[in-house]
Amino acid sequence: MVSGAFQGRGGVDPGRPVQEPEAREGHSGGAIQGAAFLQQVIDINSSLIFAKDCQGRFTLANQAVADLYGTKTDHLIGKTDADFNLPGDQVAAFRRANLHVIDSLQDLFIAEELFTDAKGNIHWLQTVRRPVLNGDGTVSEVLASATDITARKQKERQIEHERNELAHLSRVTMLSELAGSLAHELNQPLTAILSNAQAALRFLAHDHPDLEEIVDILRDIVRDDKRAGEVIEGMRALLRKTETRYEPVDINDVIGTVVKLVRSDLLNAGASLTMALAPGLPRVKADRVQLQQVLINLIMNGCGAMRDNVSADRKLYVSSELGESDDILVCVKDQGHGIPADDLKRVFKPFFSTKPNGMGLGLAVCCKIMSAHGGALWAANNARRGASFRFTLPAGSDGSRPVT
Ligand SMILES: Nc1ncnc2c1ncn2[C@@H]1O[C@H](COP(=O)(O)OP(=O)(O)OP(=O)(O)O)[C@@H](O)[C@H]1O
Ligand SMILES: [Mg+2]
Repeated sequence: MVSGAFQGRGGVDPGRPVQEPEAREGHSGGAIQGAAFLQQVIDINSSLIFAKDCQGRFTLANQAVADLYGTKTDHLIGKTDADFNLPGDQVAAFRRANLHVIDSLQDLFIAEELFTDAKGNIHWLQTVRRPVLNGDGTVSEVLASATDITARKQKERQIEHERNELAHLSRVTMLSELAGSLAHELNQPLTAILSNAQAALRFLAHDHPDLEEIVDILRDIVRDDKRAGEVIEGMRALLRKTETRYEPVDINDVIGTVVKLVRSDLLNAGASLTMALAPGLPRVKADRVQLQQVLINLIMNGCGAMRDNVSADRKLYVSSELGESDDILVCVKDQGHGIPADDLKRVFKPFFSTKPNGMGLGLAVCCKIMSAHGGALWAANNARRGASFRFTLPAGSDGSRPVT
């Protein structure tokens, strides 16, 4: 970003005196006055170029600005944003930006600004504002140039939408694989609730019911009900089709939720899971559901790779720690058949699968999720046996840590 003040019209730069342009020769051969020539120079530019005085009134605007405001350039002069049909929050944001430049005497770069044009279409603008100084160092105007980045934003949104669709499709497939064990995971607390409720009824039928015992039974019922509720909520969250939602997330909490969801599946596969989670890790800015999806994929792949092991050797390890440059490092390690050296990169390609019913989408989606989070995912074979999948996530910018 450029910084420093712009010595503009009427300003006196001791090194480079600024003069009003002389009348110039036009291509038609006729003389064009300075202001008219300047207007032509800025009109030819497809960027939005404008200047406003300290009250926010337009003092200069090119054709691109007038087109968005649905008017002519000379109709803009002397008017403020509030004179046009712009949403109030946008008027306030432009005013704030103007005042900031006036107060700071510095350039202001805004990477993304929303602008609703006269037809109600939304545009994303990337804008730089620069103070125009008077001879005495005070600001007379704010000069701005904005590029319409709407097409790029729409493309980014489209890519994000497609990524979400793919991630959702892969989650639904993943959950259908888990469905049997999730039903089992629900059945357990429901059976416990039923038998506890029956026991409570039997106690109540006594002449002198032991109320303390009944309170204990009711507490068990509440606990089991909560457990069933958590499983259902976990499934619903994974099945829901939502836009990516970044929020501060405790990675250990996500691992804990995932382990609850895959517990029965691991039991059915005769695999054990050991966790080594570093306490007090900084939160990461992430979409909780997508992180769960990555972990479930990695755990299920690891479990699948150990299918031919004797049951004592079906061991999975999940760890979290603070990595280099304060990233969060998560590792899912198995003792399976490992990955042939040639396939270490290919496993992340879409539709690469060595399983009879595999779609080969799991890892490709995981990769996309991780890169959208500013992280990375990679695989390596273990020294002795099996493979490890590791991913890193940048720690949240607020550096907040969960309470431990
Ligand atoms: N832990 C692992 N150990 C060994 N090979 C693995 C491991 N994880 C993945 N692979 C290999 O990578 C391939 C791709 O995995 P990926 O999860 O993308 O697809 P998949 O599991 O085959 O199918 P799905 O789309 O149902 O997940 C697998 O078919 C397998 O060959
Ligand atoms: Mg998979």
